Amino acid sequence: MEFNEVLNNLHTTHGNFTDKPISEADLQFILKSSVKGANASNRQSYSIIIIRGAENVKNITGCGYGSPLALVFCADYNRIYKVGERLGYPASDYDNIFNYLTGHTDAVIAAQTAVMTAISLGIGNMYTNSIHNLPRKDVRELCKQLEIPEEHCFPVIAVLLGYEDGSHPKAGKLTDKGIVHDGKYKPLTTADTDEIIAKVNNPANHFGDTNGCKDYLEYYYTKWQAPKPREMTEKIDNALLARLKMFLKKA
Ligand SMILES: Cc1cc2nc3c(=O)[nH]c(=O)nc-3n(C[C@H](O)[C@H](O)[C@H](O)COP(=O)(O)O)c2cc1C
Repeated sequence: MEFNEVLNNLHTTHGNFTDKPISEADLQFILKSSVKGANASNRQSYSIIIIRGAENVKNITGCGYGSPLALVFCADYNRIYKVGERLGYPASDYDNIFNYLTGHTDAVIAAQTAVMTAISLGIGNMYTNSIHNLPRKDVRELCKQLEIPEEHCFPVIAVLLGYEDGSHPKAGKLTDKGIVHDGKYKPLTTADTDEIIAKVNNPANHFGDTNGCKDYLEYYYTKWQAPKPREMTEKIDNALLARLKMFLKKA
């Protein structure tokens, strides 16, 4: 597939995947492409865990839709520590927020490169943050299931892969106001905000279904992304913080 075609096909499989497996050759091609992404100091401060089989994908990521294969991208300095230790170099200082953010970014770039490659092969994808979303998955349980090291490793994002069960609509995107700021950050005026509301609520722009509400944004704010109870967000934060603290634990 040409690059423009890949870009035009860049979308999420929202709905079920078929049970057609992904060939080992395609998986290896996706992985080899994924690691070609940019990464800080070319040290690839991430790792990728393959989850095989629809049951496992659902059970481990907390999200499945029949996907036969998922990749979990982690911010990960364990390999880098291990190599340094083996060579007798003193422990490095990767256990801090700066390096966490760098590892997180490396992991996301590897994930997006995997997604673009999958699309070029006609394979659908769905990112999921269910791995951080406690009602669906406790990140600490996922770490146990995948035997992720307690220190210097944090699962950043899961990507479900598989063949689509039909055609899937491409979501609309904002391209200018509130997204791109030329020169310096420009807060939205009321007129800009109204323009965005009209654009997002216009069904022709494919931002989403109204699901019985008067428009998409009513659905978004009152149902789809209605505020969670405070106790729930605290539970989610506590689970994530517990695991992030392990990442930051001093070597
Ligand atoms: C960090 C992240 C988490 C996501 N989590 C989910 C998810 O749990 N479930 C889902 O159906 N889609 C998920 N998505 C996919 C988005 O819903 C999708 O990218 C967005 O609606 C835009 O649609 P498009 O990718 O088809 O353009 C996620 C995407 C990202 C980047």
